[in-house]
Amino acid sequence: MEEERIVSGEFTNFDEEIEKSLRPKRLNEYIGQKNVTDNLKVFIDAALMRKEPLDHVLFYGPPGLGKTTLAGIIASELGVGFRVTSGPAIERAGDLAAILTNLSDGDVLFIDEIHRLHRSVEEILYSAMEDFALDIIIGKGPSARTLRVDLNKFTLIGATTRAGSLTAPLRDRFGVISKFEMYTKDELKQIIERSARLMQVDIDEESLDELALRSRGTPRIANRLLRRIRDFSQVKGDGRINKEITQTSLDALRIDKLGLENLDREILLTIMTKFKGGPVGIDAISAAVGEERVTIEDVYEPYLIQAGLLHRTQKGRIASDLAYHHLGLSVPGENGDQISMIK
Ligand code: ADE
Repeated sequence: MEEERIVSGEFTNFDEEIEKSLRPKRLNEYIGQKNVTDNLKVFIDAALMRKEPLDHVLFYGPPGLGKTTLAGIIASELGVGFRVTSGPAIERAGDLAAILTNLSDGDVLFIDEIHRLHRSVEEILYSAMEDFALDIIIGKGPSARTLRVDLNKFTLIGATTRAGSLTAPLRDRFGVISKFEMYTKDELKQIIERSARLMQVDIDEESLDELALRSRGTPRIANRLLRRIRDFSQVKGDGRINKEITQTSLDALRIDKLGLENLDREILLTIMTKFKGGPVGIDAISAAVGEERVTIEDVYEPYLIQAGLLHRTQKGRIASDLAYHHLGLSVPGENGDQISMIK
């Protein structure tokens, strides 16, 4: 069985349940992503004033940054129903047609991983988004006819880790396109503090700092670490989370000072030791560490890049000086070990 990765931005089923209970329900409870939320607030208010559905919205950015949460909040703020599905879950055009014809007026339909929709399914969306109608082809050959079925008006919110993977016709049909950024340390502290309050667990300031630093800018990871540390505090301590418990737990979970886990370190070490620090192509890294290319690109790289440990260049990935220092290796050239270049 594959080991559960604690810093992975991906969901596990159990996490999903707890995660839902910690999710803010209204915009004023949502912390961070201020650029995104400030604009959305205006669009939501305008839609409410005009009594029209909100324009279709596309959210993009790394996993775990609160895209689904914010989509749910938008539905609450608009006072409409919220229907959730995902690109890979919709196998046939008929599945999507069934979802669309069941929407009530003004509902929000959220499609996660929208870049993974099948092409035939995606095509149904075009007229649905633009004209709130489905064009259904009946029959085959010369006698085939198109039947237009009107839909209730709705707002589609699509989420993707990679905006570049969306086809142009789909991307162009979104009126609002918002990029999610990683959270600052201060924002993460506020999120952890709020979650701890909801979970009724006592946590001190130093632990908040430490956790925020090691959560890779990602609330989903912050909340997951908080739950694991709560376990340690109950079993090994008195139920309160203090600096000592936090540090012991994070060490036991093999999460280092920057929040890196084994695979992050392996990616960096591979580049440094097998590929002379890079540049090296993503496929070579993927083969060397035994992890899928898309997972490395979507889940691991964003934080490594943001933390300044990895650079992505046209020629490939390069480990930064900071990465060498962080992993306790000497930077090539820094100690004169590339003298041959000088001659
Ligand atoms: N939980 C997960 N993301 C959050 C956010 N942005 N604000 C508050 N709580 C959250």
